[in-house]
Amino acid sequence: MSKNYQIIIPQKLEPAKKAYHDFALDVLIGLSESPKKLPSKYLYDTIGSEVFQEITELPEYYLTRCEHEILEEHKEEIAEIAGNEQFNLVELGPGDGRKTKVILEYFQAMQLDFQYAPIDISEDALKGLIATMNGFFPQLEIEGLVSDYFEGIKCLSAMRRCRNFVLFLGSNIGNFNPSETRVFLHRLWNALNHGDHVLIGFDLKKDVDMLLNAYNDSNGVTASFNLNLLNRINQEMGGNFRLDHFQHYETYDVFSGAMESYLVSKEAQSVYIEKLQQSFCFQAWEPIHTESSYKYLESDIILLAKETGFAIEAHFFDAQHYFADSLWRVEKVLQK
Ligand code: AVI
Repeated sequence: MSKNYQIIIPQKLEPAKKAYHDFALDVLIGLSESPKKLPSKYLYDTIGSEVFQEITELPEYYLTRCEHEILEEHKEEIAEIAGNEQFNLVELGPGDGRKTKVILEYFQAMQLDFQYAPIDISEDALKGLIATMNGFFPQLEIEGLVSDYFEGIKCLSAMRRCRNFVLFLGSNIGNFNPSETRVFLHRLWNALNHGDHVLIGFDLKKDVDMLLNAYNDSNGVTASFNLNLLNRINQEMGGNFRLDHFQHYETYDVFSGAMESYLVSKEAQSVYIEKLQQSFCFQAWEPIHTESSYKYLESDIILLAKETGFAIEAHFFDAQHYFADSLWRVEKVLQK
C-alpha cells in the first residue's frame, strides 16, 4: 500500500532571522492596535544601546549612580552571602557590566571560588562585554551564554553542578508589567535550585518631579533614545517615519507606579513600512506607547518575593533611599 500522507516538520529559522521576523510581527501587531504600542525591548539596537549608556551618565538619571553606590557600600555583605563554596555568578542582561565590575573586583580580591556567566540574547553585546571584562580581569573565568535567560541558567547548571548567584541589576525588572514580573520570577525560581541567590535592582517610588526629570532630561538624550525606535524601523524595515513629526512624552501613573514613555504624532499622517507592505495612519496627537518603568515600595518588593517562592536575605539602599538592591534566596520544599 502506498502511503497517502506525509508529516512535515518545518525547519526552525536561524536565530538572527527569527529575531527579525519577531520584530516585524511585533511592529505589525503593535501599530495595528488601539492604542498603538511598540515593545520596549526593541529600543536596544546598536544606536539605542549606545544612547542608553549616555542616559546612565546623565545628572537626572540617578538610577545607575545609586546602584553603583549600593554595590560599593555593601559588597562585603554581598560577598559574605555568596560564600566560600564554588558558585556561578550569573548575570542576566549585563549591558556594559559597569556596575558588575564592583562586584567582580571585590569577589576576586576576596578569592571567592566563582566563574562569571553573563547571559544575553545578543551575541554582539555579549562578545563586547566579554572583551571588556577580559581586559579588566585577565584571571577571571568567564562562561558567556547567548541564550534566553532561563535556558541559559539550566544549561549552566547542567554543565557545572554548583550554586548560582544571579544578578539582575539596573531596574531591568521595572520594564516588566506586574503580571510579566510575576511570570519572570516564577520562571527564574523554576530554573534555580534551593539555596541559590538572586540580587535584583528595584527603582523606588519617589518625588514625581524627580522621576519625570529622569525620563525627560534637559538635553533630550532620552527623547532621542525613544525616537530611535522609529529610526530603527526605517532602517531595518524600510519605514518612512519622519522623526520630526513625533514628540517624546513622559508621564507618571501614580496608581500603577509606572513611568510611561510615548511617541506622540504631532500631526495627522500616514507611515508606510515596506517590509510589512502596509501603511499605518496616525491622527494628530495620537500616541504610541513605547516603555513602562515600574517603581516600587519596599512593601511591594517583600510581597513579590514571598509570592514567587523567595526568602529575602537583605535589602540594600543608597544613602537617599532612591534605589534598592534586594537579595533573595530560592526556597524549595525539600523532601526528607
Ligand atoms: C533599562 N531600563 C531599566 C531603563 C529604565 O529606567 O526603565 C530604560 C530607560 N528608559 C528611559 N531611560 C532609561
